[in-house]
Amino acid sequence: MVDHFKVKYGKAIVLYNSRGGNTEKVAIKIAKELYTERYNNKNIPDLQNFDLIVLGSWIISGWISFTGARYLKKLHRKNIAGKKIVLFFTSGAPDEINPMT
Ligand SMILES: Cc1cc2nc3c(=O)[nH]c(=O)nc-3n(C[C@H](O)[C@H](O)[C@H](O)COP(=O)(O)O)c2cc1C
Repeated sequence: MVDHFKVKYGKAIVLYNSRGGNTEKVAIKIAKELYTERYNNKNIPDLQNFDLIVLGSWIISGWISFTGARYLKKLHRKNIAGKKIVLFFTSGAPDEINPMT
C-alpha cells in the first residue's frame, strides 16, 4: 500500500503546528502511515526532495491558528511550486493545555 502511495504521490513530508497536542497526535499518525518524517513549526526543512507536503494546524475561533497561518506564509516563500499540498486541521475538541476551552 505504501509503495503504491509513493508511486502515485512521490515522497511525502508532514509539517504541523500544535498548541495542545491534538494536531501533533494526528501528524504523528499520518507520518507513521506514510513512513515519512514530520516537523513542527519550529523549523521548515529543505523541501526540495519532497513531492507531497502534508500540513496540519488547528482551528481558533473558526480560523487557522495564527502560528499555522504564519507557517503557511513561510512555506509559501520556500520553493513549493509544483508540489502537491494536503492540508488538515483539528478542531472542536478541548485541548490538553486548557480543558475548559
Ligand atoms: C482558544 C481556542 C479557540 C478555539 N476555537 C475553536 C473554534 O472556533 N472551532 C472549533 O471547532 N474548535 C476550536 N478550538 C478547539 C481546537 O481547535 C482543538 O482543540 C484543536 O484540536 C487544538 O489543537 P492542538 O491540540 O494541536 O493545539 C479552540 C481551541 C482554543 C484553545
